Amino acid sequence: MAKLLVANWKLNPIRETEAVRLARASDAKGVVICPPFPFLKAVGKILRRAKLGAQDMFWTEQGAYTGEVSPQMLKKAGVEYVIVGHSERRRWLHETDEMIGKKVVAALKAGLSVVLCVGEPISVRRKGLAAAKRFAGTQLRKDLGGVSHLTSHISHLVITYEPLWAIGTGRADNPRDSAAMAHFIKKMCASRFALRDLQVLYGGSVTSKNIRRIFEYNEIAGALVGGASLNAAEFRKIIAAASAYAV
Ligand code: PGA
Repeated sequence: MAKLLVANWKLNPIRETEAVRLARASDAKGVVICPPFPFLKAVGKILRRAKLGAQDMFWTEQGAYTGEVSPQMLKKAGVEYVIVGHSERRRWLHETDEMIGKKVVAALKAGLSVVLCVGEPISVRRKGLAAAKRFAGTQLRKDLGGVSHLTSHISHLVITYEPLWAIGTGRADNPRDSAAMAHFIKKMCASRFALRDLQVLYGGSVTSKNIRRIFEYNEIAGALVGGASLNAAEFRKIIAAASAYAV
């Protein structure tokens, strides 16, 4: 099975020229590149094989919502994927599961593919994997509460399991545990939301050194890569590891 790589650039790089250079180096099949909003057009213009993604969006088409961007605007800018519910937005922008649930529905309705992020804090993981499953399960129930009537759009949903303590820390999860979490997420989404063949990615301190061990597990359909996607040489190595699974 081919593995999907989502490059989450976050608030990087500083300049558009740098964004375009990085995008050129990362332009490969099976890759989704998510630059900051102002660089979407320039990056989209040079991509030939990779797809364009956004890091967030709002749930309404237009109106008095200062600072927001609609799914339709993203579509028109050539965006195909959107990350929703990233832990940094939950933390710094206080996004709630209710807001995330609305974003998921709006994005799917607009025809965007959604990369929904869930994952537990370290205080929960210390209690064990069962506690982490309960935490992620609760997030999923809330974030996907509105999707049940969107059956025709649901194939555009991808879930990323990102344990919070693994993001940007250099301390990736044990791939065996991530695979168990991915298995749980797939099973739960199949029984509760009738989501079959759901792709579950892993995110959190993915590097060229650990990617092969992560990808050994069939349950893990790809990776959401933050820091390592900003280093062209490093990300090329990750792409090379993923290409071993290309169909
Ligand atoms: P990281 O970030 O790869 O730098 O840990 C992952 C993410 O937050 O998407």
